[in-house]
Amino acid sequence: MSEQDNSEPAKNNVSRRTLLAAAAIAPAAVTLRATAASAQGNAGTGKTAIVTGSSRGIGAAIAKRLARDGYNVTVNCVVNRDLAAAVAKDIEAAGGHAIWEQADVSETAAVQRLFEKTEEAFGGVDVVVSNAGIMRLAPFREMKDEDFDRMLAVNVKGSFNVLREASRRVRDNGRIFALSSSITQLRSPTYGPYAASKAAQELYTNILAKELAGRKISVNAIAPGLVNTPLFTDGKTPEMIAGFVQRTPHGRLGEPEDIARVVSTLCSDDGWWVSGQTIFVNGGIV
Ligand SMILES: NC(=O)c1ccc[n+]([C@@H]2O[C@H](COP(=O)([O-])OP(=O)(O)OC[C@H]3O[C@@H](n4cnc5c(N)ncnc54)[C@H](OP(=O)(O)O)[C@@H]3O)[C@@H](O)[C@H]2O)c1
Repeated sequence: MSEQDNSEPAKNNVSRRTLLAAAAIAPAAVTLRATAASAQGNAGTGKTAIVTGSSRGIGAAIAKRLARDGYNVTVNCVVNRDLAAAVAKDIEAAGGHAIWEQADVSETAAVQRLFEKTEEAFGGVDVVVSNAGIMRLAPFREMKDEDFDRMLAVNVKGSFNVLREASRRVRDNGRIFALSSSITQLRSPTYGPYAASKAAQELYTNILAKELAGRKISVNAIAPGLVNTPLFTDGKTPEMIAGFVQRTPHGRLGEPEDIARVVSTLCSDDGWWVSGQTIFVNGGIV
């Protein structure tokens, strides 16, 4: 399997799309609209969710689903500002409240700003989904230092930054999630460092669940299987993807909405007793 860098296509996309969108889309503009909307009162839960890496893929599906469930939502991206703005606009068009913020989760100050902007807009944080992640694959003998370092900076340090801020700010009765992967069980060749970075999410959430004891805050890792997003499909031929599909019990890839539904369920009042767990959401592939 060839080495992949899933952040590069995104950067190309942003330069093309951002040029088209130009300065017509600015975080502050959406922030002001959302603030005004929340000042008028949220018809939903009155609660707020931050979903990192929600400009596309699984994060976008979770952001839209939580908005549909009545949460104010902060959408986040690192490069694809136009996509993040579009997700926030879609949420508002559907009657929800959303802001979007560009923040590289690997940077501590950027993550702090992400939470501060959310609190300014919506008054607090109730749900945090540490979803932003990248995947770079290679056999051990070929893995480059820069790919290993960036993957750990985003997946391990970045998620730590998000979970640390969540542990400081999420209100009682909240929910915190980090995205692991079923690769922690599948353990396929070329996935070594990526799988290790995802295993960290399972340890983070289990330990954080204990640290937040007594406040009715549930903390869980969500471990998708093969999900139809650029992270999984980029760099794979149709034949390779068909080979993966053949291994799935239901004969298809997961869709981002399959993951979002489970996050939504765990956010419900009935979901709170599930805590400190890794929830494998993979159609039975493991
Ligand atoms: N797809 C799968 O098969 C699969 C399976 C198991 C687990 N997962 C996990 O699920 C999560 C989402 O994956 P996905 O498939 O939806 O990926 P994706 O389609 O590639 O989307 C990745 C998202 O993360 C954002 N992001 C990347 N680096 C970031 C950074 N440094 N700071 C902030 N945001 C950043 C991207 O923002 P930009 O648009 O700005 O680049 C984008 O919104 C990841 O943690 C991944 O490991 C995915």
